[in-house]
Amino acid sequence: MSAPEPERLPPGLVSLADHEALARTRLDANALAYFEGGAGDEHTLGANREAWNEIALYPRILRRLAAGSTRTTLLGRSLAHPILLAPVAFQRLAHADGELACAHAAAAQGAGMVVSTQASISLERIASAIADDPERGPLWFQLYLQHDRGFNRELLARVEAAAYEALVLTVDAPCSGARDRERRAGFSLPPGISAVNLAALPPRPRTGGSGLCGGLMELAPDWDELAWLQQNTRLPILLKGILRPDDARLAADAGVAGLIVSNHGGRVLDTAVATARALPAIAEAIGHRLPLLVDGGIRRGTDVLKAIALGADAVLVGRPAIHGLACAGALGVAHVLRLLRDELEIAMALCGCARIEDITRDVLDRGEGQRRHT
Ligand code: FNR
Ligand code: LAC
Repeated sequence: MSAPEPERLPPGLVSLADHEALARTRLDANALAYFEGGAGDEHTLGANREAWNEIALYPRILRRLAAGSTRTTLLGRSLAHPILLAPVAFQRLAHADGELACAHAAAAQGAGMVVSTQASISLERIASAIADDPERGPLWFQLYLQHDRGFNRELLARVEAAAYEALVLTVDAPCSGARDRERRAGFSLPPGISAVNLAALPPRPRTGGSGLCGGLMELAPDWDELAWLQQNTRLPILLKGILRPDDARLAADAGVAGLIVSNHGGRVLDTAVATARALPAIAEAIGHRLPLLVDGGIRRGTDVLKAIALGADAVLVGRPAIHGLACAGALGVAHVLRLLRDELEIAMALCGCARIEDITRDVLDRGEGQRRHT
């Protein structure tokens, strides 16, 4: 696999929904079940979208909008805009260039990228593909701690050597959800696609077979494992999969570098709270102590603006990158990112916000922001 081949952007794609609709005609049933599906009856999958839609905007008029910008900072780094690619496993299921295409697209658009532990291309190749791009956004590695500490140490050493800038420890999936859509489709990874970064993982030790999930939970990480991780890496650690303010406080007290409010795109615990609903209480609980990110159902620039208004510093998108990838490889992903950023700029202008710092609860038609003005 060399550098991703340039592709043509199919006509008529003006929104992330357009990319999604076209991607659905291009992915086979196996890949579709994996990428599009959620857990159980997919209530949370739908609720993530609905919750952003249910928040109405409360726009300001005639504000000075000159010299505005989407520029912001995250973990001490300046970013062109607050949109990152969420970690999504096995991207070569969507396109031969897989994670490399997403990395190039993110770099071209100044977006951050979070590479999954279960990426289908080696973490070193992904990092080196964009290492020298001066405009690229931050490159983070999403970590699923494995059952073998020796292996975890080696994986951390590789991630650090490849110059990833932060770790995103995903904490909402000690087991996978009940993925009915995948099971109905009989989902399996085709030959040649695998979690290559886990190739050297020793087999799971035999557990007693008792307890939850056939003994699997005997190996599940807990808060002590986070402490182990902190002692064994020099990288900042963000926790991904926070939905409650009390857990957010525990994480902040444990000294993590940031939090990601997420329900894994509705793929783990069905009927778990939508992220737009979980975000405000978490933002309140941690104040501005830590960078706060959110993902789940973000498909419009207005969703990004609402997330920031509710206290997020940045957002991540998962499936939209896959849709862009299926439509036109790196070019498709870059287009998805550009559309979202353009829509954010329009939403900012129309709400009277010249800069990211100007986006506050004041632009939302509910809660304190509104009452102050009536
Ligand atoms: C994911 N997500 C995910 N998260 C993670 O921490 N590690 C992973 O390997 C994956 N893999 C993965 C695969 C697929 C196909 C999807 C759709 C999602 C969750 C992802 O990072 C993110 O939380 C959600 O995708 C956000 O929701 P949207 O933007 O897809 O609605
Ligand atoms: C998923 C895992 C890989 O959501 O996080 O498919």
